[in-house]
Amino acid sequence: MPVLFTGATGFLGCRIVRELLSEGGDEPITVIGRGSEPDLRARMEAAVTWLDGPSLPAGALNRLRYLSGDITLPGLGLTAEERARATDGITQLWHSAALLRLEGDPAPLHRSNVVGTRHVLELAEHAPDAHLMHVSTAYVAGRRLTGHILEEDLLDDHGFQTYYEESKYTAERLVRAWGARTGRSVTVLRPGLLVTDRPVPEGLPGQPLNILLRIVDAGLHSKAVRARSLAAFVKGGRRRGDAVRIRIAADPDGTANLVQVEYAARAMVRTARAHAGRPAAVRTVHVTHPHNASADIALKALEVRYPRLSLSLVPHIPDPTPLEQLVAQHGAGMVGFSAQRRTYDRTHLCEALGDLPDPEPIDESYLARACGDPDVPVGPDVRVPA
Ligand SMILES: NC(=O)c1ccc[n+]([C@@H]2O[C@H](COP(=O)([O-])OP(=O)(O)OC[C@H]3O[C@@H](n4cnc5c(N)ncnc54)[C@H](OP(=O)(O)O)[C@@H]3O)[C@@H](O)[C@H]2O)c1
Repeated sequence: MPVLFTGATGFLGCRIVRELLSEGGDEPITVIGRGSEPDLRARMEAAVTWLDGPSLPAGALNRLRYLSGDITLPGLGLTAEERARATDGITQLWHSAALLRLEGDPAPLHRSNVVGTRHVLELAEHAPDAHLMHVSTAYVAGRRLTGHILEEDLLDDHGFQTYYEESKYTAERLVRAWGARTGRSVTVLRPGLLVTDRPVPEGLPGQPLNILLRIVDAGLHSKAVRARSLAAFVKGGRRRGDAVRIRIAADPDGTANLVQVEYAARAMVRTARAHAGRPAAVRTVHVTHPHNASADIALKALEVRYPRLSLSLVPHIPDPTPLEQLVAQHGAGMVGFSAQRRTYDRTHLCEALGDLPDPEPIDESYLARACGDPDVPVGPDVRVPA
């Protein structure tokens, strides 16, 4: 079952590739991504070797092939010969590459997530037997913050919290229309917010939770805060006293669907297997945790990393402090993104998963581990996905 894969160097993508390798077999998995082929090889081998999971069959890494390509370029920038090499005989095409950014200029998000998906669909036309596995997000539900979201639902009538959500929504629309027009087999996978409690070493793709850590770290190192030696105080190293109180404007009863990335990758590969050979159709699957986590427990976990911080969610902050302004300025997207009340239907997921047990609950201690060692800063080179 030769496979072509975009986004294999990402936080999720490398785990899906590892799952595919752990299933055994000798068919090639072609990783298409930015950078030279030796660079792609080095990054993939570092990630796959570091990741946990069932042991890999001998020689598994030899199944990986590498091709330089950029989804924002027509034809992904491939020559005709490279395109033929990439698509020859493939039975699965995974499209996981995307730009994950909650704020800033929408143009790069459009280029990567909408135009990039269009380019991948054009490439898929050269692989008529390939089942398309398109990685979307549960956040295509946008500003629909309450209610139970069905896997078939794809509506824009509530609008979107971020252009990232909108770009993924538009990409999903393209994928659905393409599937209907071509009569091809398509599975759209919509993960919740992906997390891991295993600290990711520098150089390997980091997790979205790092965005919150970076906001707090940035706040603690800002001029205003440094002037008062607050950073050392907040980290608990200087003197005892009252906690520094930071209010964050968000729904105090908000929840987020956090799901272990290891579970999500395994569930996606099981879904691919379950959908293979079924009559051609577009099927959408929520790869979500069965239970939402309260946004409050994420704040409590942050307090473990920063013991003198006291964080709370409030609907409005009429009199923000400079630190609260900073959090609002840089963290608004992430916090609004995380605090909501909707739930996700998992009927199609459960049908596909067979005996795969539900993931463990995501509780405060899990998230405290995910937040990592307080003495290890979240470096600026850690990527900040969503
Ligand atoms: N992380 C989450 O919590 C989450 C939640 C829901 C859905 N998702 C979806 O899951 C998918 C994977 O996310 P992730 O967490 O693995 O993100 P990630 O760690 O940021 O990885 C993104 C991947 O896309 C690749 N990519 C980006 N732009 C590209 C381009 N122009 N050409 C070729 N490759 C490009 C990146 O390559 P480089 O390594 O070269 O940058 C990387 O492999 C995305 O579709 C995302 O929307 C993620």
